[in-house]
Amino acid sequence: VQAERGGYKHFMLKEIHEQPDVVEATLRGRIDLAAGDVHATEMGVTPEFAKELRRVYIVACGTSHHAGIAGRYWIEQLARVPTVVELASEVRYREPIFFPDDLVIAISQSGETADTIAALKAAKAQGAKVLALCNVLDSAIPRLSDGALYTHAGPEIGVASTKAFTTQLAALLLLAVYLGRRRDSLPAERGREILQALWEIPSHMREVLGDADYVHAIAKRLVHAKDVLFLGRGLGFPIALEGALKLKEISYAHAEGYAAGEMKHGPIALIDEALPVIVVCPRDAHYDKTFSNLQEVRAREGQVVAIATKGDESILEIAQHHVWIPKVPDEVGPLLTVLPLQLIAYYVANLKGNDVDQPRNLAKTVTVE
Ligand code: G6P
Repeated sequence: VQAERGGYKHFMLKEIHEQPDVVEATLRGRIDLAAGDVHATEMGVTPEFAKELRRVYIVACGTSHHAGIAGRYWIEQLARVPTVVELASEVRYREPIFFPDDLVIAISQSGETADTIAALKAAKAQGAKVLALCNVLDSAIPRLSDGALYTHAGPEIGVASTKAFTTQLAALLLLAVYLGRRRDSLPAERGREILQALWEIPSHMREVLGDADYVHAIAKRLVHAKDVLFLGRGLGFPIALEGALKLKEISYAHAEGYAAGEMKHGPIALIDEALPVIVVCPRDAHYDKTFSNLQEVRAREGQVVAIATKGDESILEIAQHHVWIPKVPDEVGPLLTVLPLQLIAYYVANLKGNDVDQPRNLAKTVTVE
């Protein structure tokens, strides 16, 4: 087993470190930099349908749902299509409404999650077009769909999903560019900039993952925390949700991911000197707003850990701890900001002596309701 883990103590740690390679594998052959465009005919989304579709409707569970939230931001921004993201378990037990000009995207690592299958069947029954965004070849979800966009994460063994998530992000950004180019909402030049940034992401991921020692020191300080709040805004929001999910899945600490702008509608009541607040705050379009949330946290003695852009001096004045992320275009930020959060969760769980790869009560794939 040690050999299968490639020298790492756990599959999860191995999979965290595989991310640069598998993101690269997911991008390879799909990017046309010269044209600022994306090729992925296997999706079954024809240029005509890409133009005509009126809504994107994403269904997923768990970590895949968080990827979907990032996907929504990209698709709305770059392709200008109204997009909703729903938990599959909620869709299937409501009376959801689908249209033939909907593109329904079922995101699933395993392709076998029962709730996601049921939601996609409901969409199909009402005539919507269904695209699977999946990691396991020929699993149930791609087989039931009109087309598939595969992530190339390879087998994911750790129950807490890591590399499947970042490859889902990469695939969703490709899809958003593809739709944007077909719908004339994304000029070739802008498409090229985004794809270039995406293509360079694996090397930045290697850089961030190389900083593991620093993250380890932060994890040491979090070992005894009973509650941890994760905040983010815009594309940082799904990353805050994902960071909180990782921590609770494997360290069993109570963690909550919140939209930074919602802090004043509840979580602010929890903040005191005992509450660590982990903030995703790269220097993106939302920086100033998130920064003022941080000031509110500090005014209440909260302990701030910032995931911030390298060289951001102002963050140093307000955060007790920070992890630097290289400066990259806003769109590709989530592929970097999530990495320290995965590592923090991993090290906290490992320091507690938990079974990182097989956390209690959780299953890798939930094939029952
Ligand atoms: C389980 C796993 C999660 C995963 C979720 C959805 O809860 O433990 O890691 O995100 O199922 O799985 P899927 O295979 O559909 O992405």
